[in-house]
Amino acid sequence: MRVPTVAQADIARARAGDCAASKWWRSLNGSWKLRLFDTPESVPSTATNAVLNTDAWQTVAVPGNWTLQDTGDLPHYTNVQMPFAGPPPRLPEHNPTGVYRRTVQVPATWSRNRRVVLHVGGAESVHAVYINGSFAGYGTDSRLASEYDVTDLVVPGENMVAIVVVRYSAQSYVEDQDQWWMAGLHREVFIESRAATHLANLRCDADLRVADGVGQLTVTSSISFGDTPERGWAVRTTLETLGGKRVGKPVVSAVPHGFYRAYIFEGYRATAAFEVADVAPWSAEHPNRYRVIVELLGPDQSVREVHAQLIGFRHVEVSNRQLLVNGQPVWIFGVNRHDHHPTRGKAVTYDDMRADLVLMKQHNVNSVRTSHYPNDPRLLELCDELGLYVVDEANIESHAYNTSLCHDDRYRATWLARGSRMVERDVNHPSIIMWSLGNESGYGANHDALAGWIRHHDSSRLLHYEGASFHAGWGDGGRLATDVVCPMYAPIDAIVMYGRDNLGDRPLILCEYSHAMGNSNGSLADYWNAITTTPGLQGGFLWEWKDHGLTQTLPDGTKRFAYGGLFGDTPNDSNFVADGLISADMVPHPAMREVAWVYRPVTVTAGKRKNVIVVSNRQSFSDLSGLRAMWSLHVDGELVQQGELAIGPCGPHSSVTVPLPCALPDGNHDIALSVRWLQRRASASLGAGHMVSWDQVVLRQARRARAPKPSRRSASPLTPVERLFTQPISLNLWRAPVDNDGFKLTIDLSKQVRGLGPALGSWMLAGVHTRPPEELVQHSVERVVGADQSVTYHHTVQVPADLADLPRVGVMFQLPSSFSEVRWYGCGPHENYPDRKSSAMREVWQQPIDSSPYLVPQEFGLRTDCGWFECIDKRSRVVRVESVGDSLVHFSATRHTPAQLFEARHDSELVRNSDLVVCVDTAHRGLGTASCGPDVLAQYRLTPGTYRFSYKLSMFSPT
Ligand code: GAL
Ligand code: MG
Repeated sequence: MRVPTVAQADIARARAGDCAASKWWRSLNGSWKLRLFDTPESVPSTATNAVLNTDAWQTVAVPGNWTLQDTGDLPHYTNVQMPFAGPPPRLPEHNPTGVYRRTVQVPATWSRNRRVVLHVGGAESVHAVYINGSFAGYGTDSRLASEYDVTDLVVPGENMVAIVVVRYSAQSYVEDQDQWWMAGLHREVFIESRAATHLANLRCDADLRVADGVGQLTVTSSISFGDTPERGWAVRTTLETLGGKRVGKPVVSAVPHGFYRAYIFEGYRATAAFEVADVAPWSAEHPNRYRVIVELLGPDQSVREVHAQLIGFRHVEVSNRQLLVNGQPVWIFGVNRHDHHPTRGKAVTYDDMRADLVLMKQHNVNSVRTSHYPNDPRLLELCDELGLYVVDEANIESHAYNTSLCHDDRYRATWLARGSRMVERDVNHPSIIMWSLGNESGYGANHDALAGWIRHHDSSRLLHYEGASFHAGWGDGGRLATDVVCPMYAPIDAIVMYGRDNLGDRPLILCEYSHAMGNSNGSLADYWNAITTTPGLQGGFLWEWKDHGLTQTLPDGTKRFAYGGLFGDTPNDSNFVADGLISADMVPHPAMREVAWVYRPVTVTAGKRKNVIVVSNRQSFSDLSGLRAMWSLHVDGELVQQGELAIGPCGPHSSVTVPLPCALPDGNHDIALSVRWLQRRASASLGAGHMVSWDQVVLRQARRARAPKPSRRSASPLTPVERLFTQPISLNLWRAPVDNDGFKLTIDLSKQVRGLGPALGSWMLAGVHTRPPEELVQHSVERVVGADQSVTYHHTVQVPADLADLPRVGVMFQLPSSFSEVRWYGCGPHENYPDRKSSAMREVWQQPIDSSPYLVPQEFGLRTDCGWFECIDKRSRVVRVESVGDSLVHFSATRHTPAQLFEARHDSELVRNSDLVVCVDTAHRGLGTASCGPDVLAQYRLTPGTYRFSYKLSMFSPT
């Protein structure tokens, strides 16, 4: 495997890096002919013959997955289980096998003493290549390129390329990642002509000497001579800025021409070394890059070909239980990213990848784990460019046979090949700070073998493997294979214990945490409180970036995003494939606000002294001069004053104390200061004015009077506001379960994963979803009508001990369909829950009614801690609900009842109530992350006992 650079004729073209402009390079992307067979054995030899009429074959796009191109062979989703019966290496009887064909014109100039190479960027699962009917070779790693020297098989003029792709193979057992099983040529295909003597590989080792800021670079060019090494070849290596300004002097180094001293010969390699004083280092905050230009010089000193490689100077190490980049600890604000597109599947484009990464940057993500395989190399270029730390992961996951294949000698070579080829391909990228040996494959000798190879080949980066510390212990286990303790879904108290009690000397970075399935990510801020205050903890990678919904057209022509099983795929793991922070078509779920907030680069908190606030810079290399801080003062949620906050210099990892920018009004009010940090100048991923960080500091809380004891039970007739209700007020204990409460689609899967979808199981047993709430709890209500025709409700609810951990305690009513907006004083503006509200600010907000953001319908749309809220109709009639007494209320206003949400198995089945369904809660269970990880923490659960709550209803039309 080599680094993917392309030979160009001169420096200008090398800088531009446009392969298509080279006369020695041709893309084979585009339309190919495809025919599917039931098994590899049933492919007739004629299918790969040079001469064949393929008019009747289907035309498909390459790159592409045939499973998404109307071939009749569909995607299949499984998580841990294999889609067919084992054991390894047994294959299914029905094993769709595609023969792809197309012609390629090979110019006559290509065959004059040159080599012709065919590049297959990625094929799922395994593939074999035929040129003009002759076998050229085969490839077995679906997520890395295979290259074939086809010089002896091609002829000038038209040639036939046939690629046979087999859907399942013995390699599928080590590609058992939690994702759709697809098939086809999903990455680019091209053909290239290489001179007999050419640059075969280009390795750049760029380091930063932290003590004095000197950049150190060694460039190693490997030359291929073909059959006969020749004297007199040289390589001229130049380092330059991106603008093309030379840095230091070009270095000319001779290429050794043979084994004339075989005993000490190390290859046809030319090296060049550079030292750059005051280099601009690479980091995710400042992704400074330089360009290396390598010119291959023939014996006559003429330039034969030119290659360019972008690099960055940076240093990665572990010291004192911290991962350091350029000598500084960095927070790992990470996410796990799969290649996914709702219609292209695994065949993501450059623009798709860029859009993913830009959206990540816009949410303060600074690190990506390429779960669970190497991505297209252009993704790494983008991470270098935009500034994201990368954990580059080998395409190894034997999850269904978790603890056997890693010891299995039949799979030893594939372990080594998959990991080492990834490292060889990606070694030049500054963004990669750790190599990952794969995912969920036990821990065995195969891992240590691969780790040994990588450590020898590249000692500049850390190794990462979750299975090593999982199976061998966090304290001291699996050191050969991992330099960090990188557990998945560990509970907060476990990671805190590791850090606080000094249970190991490696930094702990969660490789996966806070499972974003449906309405989720409860306690994300609790994780970050723990991480930022406990030594040895440094962050983690959220699971996961995007839902893997696939566009599916129903018989009536409507489209929806499919999850497992909706293609008739069995066995399957249902909607477990939809566990992203954003939808398949890139719409962020509400939890993304919480992500952006916990990952924010600057925080504002209350000072220890009165009338000051503390600004803390969580960045490692930047001060705050790139951001503008805007403050606003809110009295009972209403904006009363605002301005720009003046702060003194505040370097990386430091804090400043700032006096309050204004005087506070007197009186019994809620008073809060909000500070929003806006990007001053546009960057590659953030527009000028983009809100990067925000915080709210509560300066004073109004004393709230206890609800008056209702003096008399009122039998007065309905007030105008009550007459407006299309459904009267009723007690409500039920919420449509979120995925973390239990998997409603697959109660069996719930059992498998967690005993029994913990909350949902017990709720269903008790009948919370079906029985009238008054049968489950004791409820009394007092209704008091005021002189102004307002009405106050006082509820008392007794929750018995055996009904602990209810979804909610509150009421529900409905308003006519014309009600279409809400205004409230409480946490917002986005949806928030008791354990996911740190990113919300308590201000006065107004917006239209939310629609359901989740693929599988479930509870959504709550706003917590409201002093009051109003539902507004098109004629500007306002129904106002005010909390009375010492506690605030949570509310939601949607077009769905909990029952409707619970019933629908898919967003496309969701009934939209025309009336507005309003829920008012005094208590609401947190969200937790129990779909894969810890359940709701005790402090966010409902305990048994007495709940008293009161609210006042009124109606008015603003004049
Ligand atoms: C992890 C795994 C991921 C995914 C996740 C649950 O165990 O590494 O690939 O399956 O759980 O969504
Ligand atoms: Mg797995």
